[in-house]
Amino acid sequence: MERRKTADQLRSARWFSASDMRAFAHRQRGQQMGFRREEFVGRPVIAIINTWSELSPCHVHLRGRAEAVRRGIIRAGGFPVELPAMSLGEVMVKPTTMLYRNLLAIEVEELLRSLPIDGAVLMGGCDKTTPGLLMGAFSMDIPVIFCPAGPMLNGRWRGEVVGAGTHTRKYWDAYRGGRLSGEDLADVEGISTRSPGTCNTMGTASTMTSLTETLGFTLPGATSIPAADSAHPRMASLCGERIVEMVWDDLKPSRVITPASVRNAVEVTAALGGSTNAVIHLVAMAARAGIDLSLDAFDEAARRTPVLVNIFPAGGYLMEDFYFAGGLPALLARLSDRLDLNAPTISGKSLGKTIAGAQCWNDEVIRPLDRPVTEAPAFAVLRGNLAPDGAVIKPSAASPHLLQHRGRAVVFDNHGELTRNIDDPGLQIDKDTVLVLRGAGPVGGPGMPEWGALPMPKRLLEQGITDIVRMSDARMSGTHYGTCILHVAPEAHVGGPLALLRTGDEVVLDVPERRLDMLVEPAELERRRAAWTPPPAHYGRGYGAMFETHVTQADKGCDFDFLQAGAATPEPEIF
Ligand code: FES
Ligand code: MG
Repeated sequence: MERRKTADQLRSARWFSASDMRAFAHRQRGQQMGFRREEFVGRPVIAIINTWSELSPCHVHLRGRAEAVRRGIIRAGGFPVELPAMSLGEVMVKPTTMLYRNLLAIEVEELLRSLPIDGAVLMGGCDKTTPGLLMGAFSMDIPVIFCPAGPMLNGRWRGEVVGAGTHTRKYWDAYRGGRLSGEDLADVEGISTRSPGTCNTMGTASTMTSLTETLGFTLPGATSIPAADSAHPRMASLCGERIVEMVWDDLKPSRVITPASVRNAVEVTAALGGSTNAVIHLVAMAARAGIDLSLDAFDEAARRTPVLVNIFPAGGYLMEDFYFAGGLPALLARLSDRLDLNAPTISGKSLGKTIAGAQCWNDEVIRPLDRPVTEAPAFAVLRGNLAPDGAVIKPSAASPHLLQHRGRAVVFDNHGELTRNIDDPGLQIDKDTVLVLRGAGPVGGPGMPEWGALPMPKRLLEQGITDIVRMSDARMSGTHYGTCILHVAPEAHVGGPLALLRTGDEVVLDVPERRLDMLVEPAELERRRAAWTPPPAHYGRGYGAMFETHVTQADKGCDFDFLQAGAATPEPEIF
């Protein structure tokens, strides 16, 4: 590393080391909190941005884990300050955490900007926290290291492997179909999520933390360490130690994330059989770093690189198994001939150097390239008269027989209408129906909720039909599965063609050809367009109104337009 900073070049020196009245007041207030001058003046001030809360089961251990980070910072000669930030526990936050990812990003950016911070350890991992933390940090561009919350331990019920999210839906459908009793359901409720930590499936959390490691923002191998493992606090302590060195070296995000590292992350998403949410988040994260990423890059990567990671929902194992198999370094080593190994990382070494010697210890969990988990690609990007700006499907988690399908649409305008009527005996629905939900996109949802795995009608479940083609402008939880067409863009709420579809229209899905169309004559579509009126706004005030006005569509990452671009924000004046 060529750049070494001196103490008077630290950002925090502007607050603490000047010889004016303000710096006197800053030091005075530091001492008011019980810190000796020598503890914080002339040392890198490191923010521990902690997204812990008691309504975030995946992060509940981070309250204590910050102590390990603190130890590492002090050991390396830094000054730790813990700053709580918005906690986005995926399952608790309504209507959806996606409504708040950008708010967390704003909070992180402005916390780092407005306070005397030289570098930060970002503590998170539940779905939206990873992109939220990193998007804010990329825009602020001071050194950061990501400390992943770690997955929860493997679950098991009556001898059967139980994964968070994936089996929630499976058991619920079994209960609705009369194949599981109420007592059994209550039993599994208490057993399936057995420790703190993020979902142990390859849902959005594990996908995003794996991508973060691929992008070079974690310590090598950090992602798959289970939250409850003793290695986790040791990793956290090392994060604290490393960030101090990164501050002295001025190793900021813009020197780590590159077009090559983003390409690596896309390739790894395919091999993970990762969550479709990654498509949105990675586009948004890259854009914050000024890197343009199109949906087509995901489609191309998934055609090239098969699903190798044999974890639910695409496979049969869980994150703890992935850890024992060698974790992400083992996967990266396996993919090494299709990655750019010169990509930089926060370790100060190239990606290639950080994975040198990494081995896979279980070829069932991380499959070799010639024996993938499935022949089906992790993602396919569809286009057609229903989705001119693209839609996403996860063939690896879909039913093969439905990937080329023509069926009659049954359309619901919003989620409430769908859930109230899905079991209506009068509903004309069968195994060939294309079930459609609209009004569930970024603006329409609002916040593009994870409603995309539309519920299967009870009537079909009772007949043993567990999957039909489902389509929406919503997202889908990465832990879910089914033949679900997602992220239809532009969404119906802003007048995308999905708004013009009617119950009874024929819909054609052709995944091999990457097509998604409705068989409606253009003249008829024009008539429907002329008669269409935009639905009213959800919010008259507040954050929701700002969200509605500024959120971009799914293919652009759902960031706010004013956060994606523009000139650098000035540093605050310190008077
Ligand atoms: Fe937090 Fe799945 S709910 S990671
Ligand atoms: Mg999730």
